[in-house]
Amino acid sequence: MNEYILGIETSCDETAAAIVKNGTEIVSNVVASQIESHKRFGGVVPEIASRHHVEQITMVLEETFDQAKMTMKDIDAVAVTEGPGLVGALLVGVNAAKGLAYAHQKPLLGVHHIAGHIYANRLEKEFEFPLLALVVSGGHTELILMKTHGSFEIIGETRDDAAGEAYDKVARTLNLPYPGGPKIDQLAQTGEATINFPRAWLEEDSFDFSFSGLKSAVINTLHNAKQKGETMKQEDVAASFQASVVEVLTEKTVKAAKQYRVKQVIVAGGVAANQGLRTTLQSKFQLEKEINLFFPPLSLCTDNAAMIAAAGSIAYQQGHKANWELNANAGLSLEKYTQRQKVIHSK
Ligand code: KG4
Ligand code: ZN
Repeated sequence: MNEYILGIETSCDETAAAIVKNGTEIVSNVVASQIESHKRFGGVVPEIASRHHVEQITMVLEETFDQAKMTMKDIDAVAVTEGPGLVGALLVGVNAAKGLAYAHQKPLLGVHHIAGHIYANRLEKEFEFPLLALVVSGGHTELILMKTHGSFEIIGETRDDAAGEAYDKVARTLNLPYPGGPKIDQLAQTGEATINFPRAWLEEDSFDFSFSGLKSAVINTLHNAKQKGETMKQEDVAASFQASVVEVLTEKTVKAAKQYRVKQVIVAGGVAANQGLRTTLQSKFQLEKEINLFFPPLSLCTDNAAMIAAAGSIAYQQGHKANWELNANAGLSLEKYTQRQKVIHSK
């Protein structure tokens, strides 16, 4: 018997719904982006995000069912991002999911946003354990070891800014529109890494990251040049910044993959779309014949609901159903989420 999960995602600035078959196959996938509305403010405005979600959610759900030629009768369970994210934004998805699940008497599943980003990969390629996930998004930078489905062991994380956050802040200083990550990535392709920005390696045995020093170094360099009336090539600043981020992410990922003897390395989150990161990781892992490197397609790197349905499928199979008290949890940690599943935090 086939299993169909409806996924709903509203944690930040995309209103998204999707139907996924057997945890691995997209039946329909609809994303309504709000980027245009937030651009003029240079970042996501939480109140505006919530209002857009309220306006969009019904249409997005209708489109999802239309594309799939299905109704709620065909759905086995409803999975929704319960956190982390913007509380007002999350609430819209959680309430839509609860309403649908209750009205149609279907099981409800709460999904951690990062578990979703990781499971986006499973829509393209089956997991092989032990697996290492490099999660790089606007709010997260983590190295996560998975020994089995639904088990997330954080072996390294950022001590300050997330990689995507650093991209967006540097982009703002370069007067590039939000979200800055893709713009810097584009500029970096044509520039040269002429400036030697710092790399935060931290302690020898640590898989943690730190990007705030790098971010400040870039901002200071730009301010100093401006004060002296010097012009710096935007492309070279972008290429130099990207070289620093990519080198640290790549080196730590390769080291962790070898140390934990993983079979597969997957990259997840918005920054997984980065061309520089893709190319460098690919060339490093070419030398590691027994480790299989995988990236999700660009459309599944940024926020979507197919990834929430894919992670929801595992929660469903493992029997981790939510009750009607499920609530938006803005600060939900991966540890707390996996307490219902398997939790380990070894650092
Ligand atoms: O995963 P995501 O859509 O949302 C969060 O859960 O945070 O990630 C968004 C982040 C933003 O910071 C954006 O600038 C960054 O991903 N991003 C990129 C690229 N595409 C998106 N960063 C670097 N290079 C890219 N090509
Ligand atoms: Zn995300």
